[in-house]
Amino acid sequence: MSTSLKFSLKDRNILKEIHNFAQNRRVKLYLVGGVLRDLILAREKANPDFDFAVKNRAISFGRSLAYKLKAGFVVLDKEHGACRIVKKIGVKTYTFDFSDFRGKGLEEDLRKRDFTINSLALELEKVFGSKDLSSVWIDSYGAKQDLKRKVIRLVNKKSFREDPLRILRAFSFASRLGFAIDKETLILAKSGKAKLAKVSFERIRDELFKIFDSDKAYACLVTLDKLKILEVIFPELKKMRGIGQGPYHHLDVKQHTLESVRQMELILENIKDKEIRDFFDAYICGERSRRQLLKLAALLHDIGKPKTLRRKKGRITFHGHERVGVALSEDIAKRLKLSNEESYSLRKIILCHLRPGYLAEGEHPTARARFRFFRDAGREALSVLLLSLADQRATQGPLATVESRRRHERVVSRLIRENSKKGKEKKKARLLDGNDIMKKFKLAPSPLIGKILAEVEELQAIGKVKTRQEAFKAAARLAK
Ligand code: CTP
Repeated sequence: MSTSLKFSLKDRNILKEIHNFAQNRRVKLYLVGGVLRDLILAREKANPDFDFAVKNRAISFGRSLAYKLKAGFVVLDKEHGACRIVKKIGVKTYTFDFSDFRGKGLEEDLRKRDFTINSLALELEKVFGSKDLSSVWIDSYGAKQDLKRKVIRLVNKKSFREDPLRILRAFSFASRLGFAIDKETLILAKSGKAKLAKVSFERIRDELFKIFDSDKAYACLVTLDKLKILEVIFPELKKMRGIGQGPYHHLDVKQHTLESVRQMELILENIKDKEIRDFFDAYICGERSRRQLLKLAALLHDIGKPKTLRRKKGRITFHGHERVGVALSEDIAKRLKLSNEESYSLRKIILCHLRPGYLAEGEHPTARARFRFFRDAGREALSVLLLSLADQRATQGPLATVESRRRHERVVSRLIRENSKKGKEKKKARLLDGNDIMKKFKLAPSPLIGKILAEVEELQAIGKVKTRQEAFKAAARLAK
């Protein structure tokens, strides 16, 4: 670890302002937790967040500091004395959290933290006076050693009992930092997992999405599954274990699901096209992106299979599992308090996930079939196509021949290119509207008008209708 660790000039400037304010009030501030860990690991956040521990009266200190900085202020926890200041500096949004010591003093505060790597402290004053921050850290629980060893280890054995969310945090840190989880910590995670069900789902969602944000979500989910922690979060997944799937598959539904996440992760990591990368990097809600949501969709895409399982003359079927999956994923989205847009996308991806496979039954799906796919999948078309690739790559039973798998890859790749082209094309103007049809054919308003319009639009999209006259001709046929 380097000895010349220091904060950036911009960070030091704002920290100096906070320090001066604290000094005038004779308040001693300690920087604690993740910010020091990230400094050692040279991890930069787009929007920095600093945690401060203070002996007492953190809320009143934070309130007056926010006033001085002309920054946003919110009380996070009145009972335990915690508040937050949010200030935009340049293009970055800085978050400063202030909390009363948990316990009698700093040592006890640090002992009550989750993991050793998050238990470093640094007196704020030292940020300015010392050339070598690593000689002035307060490291009571082996943080630096564990950072070096790349290990996630509990600070104290009661840690998971005090806050069961930390079980999931162990995994989110492990996947984001590429660290291993210490053996005893894993054992305690397994034995304490039931309590995770009592944690608010917003907090669970946030850690889960951090896992999906990393490139090690698959490995992480496999361990969560082995320890049966995954089914505490998603009891629906439990029913997938042991369900065989017939001649197209080599894995049971649960294993296939996890393998699909692996394939999805590989596909997302290897996207070369910048526009496609940007599409998946874009946030849908807060700091949750399409990339993260698509991994969740991969995990849930077959969630309807256990309910639709039928055995007929030795054959296994799951007819309609995508529709049952939509209903189940709607419940899950509600539970995880996803936004309406995230929930809609998740449901749409699951509903349409079999469609590219049907299109790929022939080498050249018709223009009409492709039009219908893009129309129905809407803005989720690209996500559906990638999930279809991942799903197919995770399916290797004896009936999934090399040729059918290659054809699937070819057809889906062409559809991905078609989708990109569509994105750049201007949408064709409608040749007719509802009024034109009602006037021409003397029809009253009814669902029939919508049906005629949709059909004309489809004919226009596939090039069978090019002019207004041809559109009226087609409409006349349909009106009959
Ligand atoms: N902390 C804890 N137990 C929790 C949550 C947080 O002990 N359940 C402590 C840890 O010391 C942590 C600090 O509070 O470092 C700040 O928490 P948070 O902002 O949630 O996490 P960071 O460690 O900053 O990591 P990141 O923001 O990258 O997830």
